Amino acid sequence: MNVLVIGGGGREHALVWKLRESPRVEKIWCAPGNGGIAAEAECVAIDPGDVAGLTTFAEKNRPDLTVVGPELPLVNGVADAFRARNLPIVGPSQIASQLEGSKIFSKEFLLRHKIPTAKLFGTFEYPEDAAAALKEVQYPLVMKADGLCAGKGVVLATNEDEALAFIDSAMRKNELGPAGRKLMFEETLVGEELSFIILTDGEKYAPLVPTRDHKRIFDENRGPNTGGMGAFSLDELLPNSLRETITRTVVEPTLRGLAADGIRYQGFLYIGLMITSGGPRVLEFNCRLGDPETQAILARLDCDLAEILYDLAVRRFDPAKFRWKAGASVCIVLASEGYPGKYPTGRPISGLTALADKTGVKVLHAGTRLFGDVIATSGGRVLGVTSAAATLDEAVSRAYEAVSSIRFDGMQFRHDIGTQTGLAHSAGN
Ligand code: AMP
Ligand code: GLY
Repeated sequence: MNVLVIGGGGREHALVWKLRESPRVEKIWCAPGNGGIAAEAECVAIDPGDVAGLTTFAEKNRPDLTVVGPELPLVNGVADAFRARNLPIVGPSQIASQLEGSKIFSKEFLLRHKIPTAKLFGTFEYPEDAAAALKEVQYPLVMKADGLCAGKGVVLATNEDEALAFIDSAMRKNELGPAGRKLMFEETLVGEELSFIILTDGEKYAPLVPTRDHKRIFDENRGPNTGGMGAFSLDELLPNSLRETITRTVVEPTLRGLAADGIRYQGFLYIGLMITSGGPRVLEFNCRLGDPETQAILARLDCDLAEILYDLAVRRFDPAKFRWKAGASVCIVLASEGYPGKYPTGRPISGLTALADKTGVKVLHAGTRLFGDVIATSGGRVLGVTSAAATLDEAVSRAYEAVSSIRFDGMQFRHDIGTQTGLAHSAGN
């Protein structure tokens, strides 16, 4: 099989790593890939949002399977374009991807199908209406831009001044671009967050192993939100009774609701949940795998990923083929100085060669580039040091041991990934 992976982050490196282990896979292209992926696949310089460019490449090279990492190509319709040309692909259609691409679409879907979620205060197209609605809300208030905002579209306002400032920035000053023209306000939920990711053909589904990610930049979950500073997987995150409740109140109604709406959902569906005292509530849907959750999830994979994904793409999905390693896994993100704000690039990274053959540890690349034979930083999140072991403690200590031998100027990472203090709840953004 020749496989095309779309994307160039740590999640896509993890996909390439596991696809490469399959005896069925001969060649892998990755668009655009990164400095680490380049050692395991052929990187092709196509922007992941460029559906026309991806389609042209695929028509010429006829990959037997395409796997999509990020949301942008999906929201731009890459899966529809490939299916129309008989190119097997794993990923939801453009309309199905609206579950992530439009928070208002997703909220209306949840309410229509009575799936538990945060109470909606309103959706707004005009700043005057949004401001007037503030008389009726409770603080802290969750305010969300409708469209894709690369993590900047959700704000927790603790009072009316903060809420008015966000309305002004998104709806009057257009600081989030077209994605921020419409807003939605909802109730703030309190509890523990859990990512529940499934792979589905629209009818059958397989839950992946449960994960938690650490969103804030600093230890003890302090400081601004990031794309994710680390994640871990542990079966105990999801006791059977909770799994049963999530299946019955969220997963099954979601699949039934999609079918009832005439939407066939094929691909990964990421369900972001808040486990409140009243039970699980949906915070968000993503039409893809999470990053860095995927790195931790795939570290526990114990079956042929290429076979499962190919079967799905040609409509003979068999969820029973998934096998997972018992135990736990962790991914620790190493980020650039200044991230999640502005950060420098081009800083050389040392210590990687010595880790290449270390058993039980895999260094997955995110924002890296190869300059000659030097690997240098090229993004905010640079590397994800990933390890699976019999226990979470063991996975965590192995991964941190590996982290201690990697260096680049300004490197920052959290010291509490995979621990309870790392999940501490800190109020506000
Ligand atoms: P979203 O992009 O909708 O997932 O929101 C990003 C993050 O904001 C979530 O992962 C939560 O940490 C937080 N969040 C979103 N909605 C709510 C809510 N209703 N209550 C509390 N936190 C929320
Ligand atoms: N780590 C959260 C996400 O991928 O959306």
